[in-house]
Amino acid sequence: MDADAPAWVALSNLVLDRTVTVEAFRAGEARRDPQQLNRRWVAERGGEVQGLAHLSFFPFDPPGFLHASVLVHPEARGRGLGRALWAEVEQAAREAGAAGLAADVADTEPDSLAWAERRGLRPHAHRFASELDLTTFDETPHREALARAAAQGVTFTDLGGADAATLEQYLNFFADRLTETPDLAGHPRWPPKQVREILHLDHDPRPDWLVLAVGPDGGWLGTTALVAYQLMAYNELTAVHPQARGQGLALPLKLHAIRRAREAGLTAMRTNNHSRNAPMLAVNRRLGFEARPGRFELHQLFALTSGA
Ligand SMILES: CC(C)(COP(=O)(O)OP(=O)(O)OC[C@H]1O[C@@H](n2cnc3c(N)ncnc32)[C@H](O)[C@@H]1OP(=O)(O)O)[C@@H](O)C(=O)NCCC(=O)NCCS
Repeated sequence: MDADAPAWVALSNLVLDRTVTVEAFRAGEARRDPQQLNRRWVAERGGEVQGLAHLSFFPFDPPGFLHASVLVHPEARGRGLGRALWAEVEQAAREAGAAGLAADVADTEPDSLAWAERRGLRPHAHRFASELDLTTFDETPHREALARAAAQGVTFTDLGGADAATLEQYLNFFADRLTETPDLAGHPRWPPKQVREILHLDHDPRPDWLVLAVGPDGGWLGTTALVAYQLMAYNELTAVHPQARGQGLALPLKLHAIRRAREAGLTAMRTNNHSRNAPMLAVNRRLGFEARPGRFELHQLFALTSGA
C-alpha cells in the first residue's frame, strides 16, 4: 500500500479538492490505532490508479459503524470501477461485523448521491464548511460582544503552559461538550486519547489554541479549539456549557481563537457545521464566515443476521 501512497494522495486531492501532502498522509497512517480497522483498495486501469476505496473507523460515526469512501477519477467513471470497489468495501465491512456504513457525498454532486443511494445509503445529515478570511477580518464591530462578556465577569484564557492535570480536565470538558453537539448527541463519550488525536496534541500540539471562557467563580463555561492544516486554522469545536448558554459567549470565544490564529500567521479559518445547528450558524454569519459547498453524511444500517 505504501508504494501507492503518492497515487492515492494525488487522486483523492483531485476528487475532494484538497491539498494533502504524501508526507502528511503517511504521518496520519502511522498515527492510526492498530486496533481499529483501516483498509484501503486501489483500482488500476492501464497501469494507472483510477479508483480508491477506504474502510476505516471514524470517531464521528455512530457506534459500531465503519466509514466507507469510494472515489473514481472523473474520466474513469461509469465503467464499473466504483461498483467493484463498493462491493469490496461492503463485504469487508460485513465480515468485520459492522453495524452499518457511513459515507460522505458532496452536495454539489447529484450523480454521486444517486449512485450511493442505489447502494442503500440514505441521507442522515447535511454539513457545510464555512470559511473566514483572516487577512481582512476586522474585530471592531464585535468589541461590544467582548465588553458584554467582560461585564459578566467572564475572562478568556487558554491551555498554554497548563499542567498535565489541567490538560486532562480539559480533555474531559471537551469530551462532555462533544456529546452535546448535533453531530455526536447520543454517542458514547470519547476517550481522552481520541480527543488528543483530533486536537493534534500528540503531533502538533498548540495548547494555546485551546481557548476557555472562565466564569467569575473560576468555573469553565465554554471552549473553542483550533488545529492548523498548512495556513488554514480549522475550528474543531466551539461549545458552551448548557448552563452558560444564552449569555453571548460563543462569539467572544471565537474572536479569541481568531486573534490567536492571526498572530500565528494563518490566513483563513474554516469550520464545518451541521445544517440544523442554528445558534452556531448565526454566530458564524455575524463574524463573516462564508458558506462553501457541503456534504451529505449517508448511512446504511446492516440488517442483524440471526446467529442460529
Ligand atoms: C460515486 C463514484 C464513486 C461512482 O464511480 P463510478 O466508477 O462512476 O461507478 P460505476 O461505474 O460503478 O457506477 C456508475 C454508473 O455507471 C454505469 N455503469 C457501471 N458499469 C458500467 C459499465 N461497465 N458500462 C457502462 N456503464 C456502467 C451504471 O449506471 C452505474 O451505476 P449503478 O452501478 O448504480 O447502476 C464516483 O462518481 C465518485 O468518485 N464520486 C465522488 C466520491 C463519492 O461521492 N463517492 C460516493 C460515496 S463513498
